[in-house]
Amino acid sequence: MRVLLVGGGGREHALAATLARSPALTALFVTPGNPGTAAHGTNVAIAMDDVPALVAFAQAQRIDLVLPGPEAPLVAGLADACAVAGIACAGPTAEAARLEGSKSFAKSVCDAAGIPTARWERFEDAQSAHAFVRLRGAPIVVKADGLAAGKGVVVAATLAEAEAAITAFMQHATLGPAGAAVVIEEYLDGDEVSLFALCDGETALLLGAAQDHKRIGEGDTGANTGGMGAVSPPAFFDRTTQETALDLLVRPMLREMATRGTPFRGILFAGLMLTERGPELIEYNVRLGDPEAQALLPRLRSDLLPVLAALCDGTLDQARLHLAEESCVAVVLAGRGYPGQPATGAPIHGIDRAEAMAGVRVFQAATALDPAGTLVGAGGRVLTVVGTAPTLAAARDAAYAGVAAIDWPDAIWRRDIGVGALERDLAARVGI
Ligand code: AMP
Ligand code: GLY
Repeated sequence: MRVLLVGGGGREHALAATLARSPALTALFVTPGNPGTAAHGTNVAIAMDDVPALVAFAQAQRIDLVLPGPEAPLVAGLADACAVAGIACAGPTAEAARLEGSKSFAKSVCDAAGIPTARWERFEDAQSAHAFVRLRGAPIVVKADGLAAGKGVVVAATLAEAEAAITAFMQHATLGPAGAAVVIEEYLDGDEVSLFALCDGETALLLGAAQDHKRIGEGDTGANTGGMGAVSPPAFFDRTTQETALDLLVRPMLREMATRGTPFRGILFAGLMLTERGPELIEYNVRLGDPEAQALLPRLRSDLLPVLAALCDGTLDQARLHLAEESCVAVVLAGRGYPGQPATGAPIHGIDRAEAMAGVRVFQAATALDPAGTLVGAGGRVLTVVGTAPTLAAARDAAYAGVAAIDWPDAIWRRDIGVGALERDLAARVGI
């Protein structure tokens, strides 16, 4: 099969490495890709949301399957354009991608399908939003209704924080049109996990789960980021519980979307909270997570490509995915200054040294080659160093040994990825 993978982050490097192992793969193109994906396929300089150019390229190259990594091309209608061109695309239509693109749309689907999620209200005028949070009190969550690249959610511990978020999003338009309307929702308490399933419109096939570390600082402090590290599998979320969560949070959504005439075909990411009442949905995303993918895909033992083809053909009920019973810890190395303005341009050495270690892999994201051909940092999240081992503790050791082998002066990273999960494991074993 000839495959076009869209995107250029660490998730796409992990996907490219996974696809490259498939005996069914005959050609792999990555748009735009990064220096890491170039080891597995051909990078092509097309912007990931330039739908006409992507489809024209796919036609010219007789692509059999398009795999979108991020949500932007899907929200821009890549799957719809592929359908018109007769090319299989393992991602949802723009209408179904509203599950991620519009928080109030996702919430209305949950309500119609009886999916447990935080109670919510949507507001288009700031005065009513202010009045509502004063009525409800803190903790409370304020979300911009539109896509805001991870910056549109404020989990407010105090009323003042909630009111400041409403003022910023609605009155000062700090997120532009994405914040013109807000969703205000109940605060859910518990462990947050990311659950992934392949969906063909009817069938949801479990891929697996991971736990993200979203904050920039150790101990889950500081600003929110795209994700500074991930652990798979997460503590206390075994495959049986993952299947139960699919029954509660994903399969009813598939039935609701099919009933509406907009079936969801693609990779679904259910962000959920394991609360005292059971799993409750925080949000849907219509793609793999980053860095969750880097912690999940190294555990995959099945050939992903035929399963993606089954997703496109509507035959996922006959497909199987096998994940190894091992642990994976993914540590993101970002450019100093991230999630603000990151330092760029410093040389990165030691990736080969890290990858020579047992169980260590390095996925690239915002890297570039300078005119002399040296790999340099070129953005926020730059590398993900992944350790895989039979136990979580050994996977953590492998990941951090890999990090220590990397020589890049601008790198910042969290030293506590997986520590929470490790503590939970120990507590469970000694019975506290
Ligand atoms: P979202 O963009 O909806 O994923 O929100 C970003 C992050 O905010 C989530 O990953 C959670 O950590 C947190 N969050 C969102 N909604 C809630 C909620 N209702 N209760 C508690 N935390 C939440
Ligand atoms: N790591 C969270 C996300 O990909 O949205």
